[in-house]
Amino acid sequence: MTLSQPVPTAVTRRPSKRRVLMCRPEFFTVSYRINPWMHPEDPTDTSLAVTQWQALYDIYIGLGFEVDLIDPIAGLPDMVYSANGGFVLDGVAYGARFTYPERQPEGPAYMEWFAKAGLKVHEPRETNEGEGDFLLVGDVILAGSGFRSDSASHQELAEVFGRKVISLELVNPSFYHLDTAIAVLDPAPGEGEAANIAYLPSAFSDESLAILRERYPDAIIATEEDAAVLGLNSFSDGYNVVIASRAKDFERQLRERGYNPIGVDLSELLLGGGGVKCCTLEVRS
Ligand code: ARG
Repeated sequence: MTLSQPVPTAVTRRPSKRRVLMCRPEFFTVSYRINPWMHPEDPTDTSLAVTQWQALYDIYIGLGFEVDLIDPIAGLPDMVYSANGGFVLDGVAYGARFTYPERQPEGPAYMEWFAKAGLKVHEPRETNEGEGDFLLVGDVILAGSGFRSDSASHQELAEVFGRKVISLELVNPSFYHLDTAIAVLDPAPGEGEAANIAYLPSAFSDESLAILRERYPDAIIATEEDAAVLGLNSFSDGYNVVIASRAKDFERQLRERGYNPIGVDLSELLLGGGGVKCCTLEVRS
């Protein structure tokens, strides 16, 4: 008889059906450098990017998600990172206004898709990179600034959606979008249930870190190693969490908490500075 069995702490996690927008990386390459991950002098393999992206798409289909596709546009190699195309909540799409000229034409392309999909479209006044920097956690929106989205966009976001917006300042250029430093684990918590996150403490200013510590005392703390393969850049349905297959400690911690981590290799898309979440825009219609 074993007396030293670990106390079962596992909670029952419930998956919820998600609807996402993706963009096949048919024109993916790294031809400019707007984040430290990008090295235009190194070759990229577009067909490998498509194959890896397809594996992510297939996982989502297998999980029963509704997956919409936006047509890729030649000359916009970063369009595969659909998370940056806007922020959609309550059937309203708040459009993106990109920081760098290289990506600016993506804004109207995504807006057009939102309008065609029957969403109410809100033209952005302020610079923002959509769900790359805005994360819905329970009933609040965490909003990043420091590298891409202007903090004035946080105010605009609060006006558009009438939700509480909590501003967080990013300080490490390798984690330039909020979705590279925070993972939302519970997209649709039930009544009275708290939504949890995982994050990388060193990516935030002291003040922002204090906010995260206070609001999410039970958060998963990611290792620097896992963050360095964009492990936090993941997508959860409340039970299944699609993550970078190399993020081993994150995988272990998710399993311990009763989630079902599913690894995927997006190494080619990492050359552009993006992972699972970057390739995924949630459509909350
Ligand atoms: N090359 C793209 C950029 O620098 C990558 C975007 C990654 N997207 C994200 N949601 N973190 O803008």
